[in-house]
Amino acid sequence: MSSNLDALYRQVIMDHYKNPRNKGVIEDDSLTINMNNPTCGDRIQLTLKVENDKVVDAKFTGEGCSISMSSASMMTDAIKGRPVEEALKLAHTFSDMVQGKDPHADHEDDDLDLGDIEALSGVCKFPARIKCATLAWKAMEKALNEEEK
Ligand code: FES
Repeated sequence: MSSNLDALYRQVIMDHYKNPRNKGVIEDDSLTINMNNPTCGDRIQLTLKVENDKVVDAKFTGEGCSISMSSASMMTDAIKGRPVEEALKLAHTFSDMVQGKDPHADHEDDDLDLGDIEALSGVCKFPARIKCATLAWKAMEKALNEEEK
């Protein structure tokens, strides 16, 4: 990765960390999930509002490192307005990306635009941080899978 791209990605991550999108709690009719990263104890609470198989709102609170909190900010931004199925697909794509796999390789027909999320692709070089990056996404997957049952 070029150092310019590295710097840009760092900027995007710090922007989401310092100015988190969708911080808070959805009060009514929401799915609530609490999850922590067992390796450090950092935690996230995610609330989602789903209507007609679509994520209409997503908010989070929690405490954690810059990677985990910026990832939660990006994730909530990315899934709002998406069908549940697409949000779950995005979680799969994200998981591939932070493990260093080509996020588009297994999903030839998907044209999901990763947008800011791509800024976390460098996490694959730091295996200890993968759990930080995926914390919010695992919470989202768990909440939506439980909702689908
Ligand atoms: Fe705890 Fe990153 S160090 S989530």
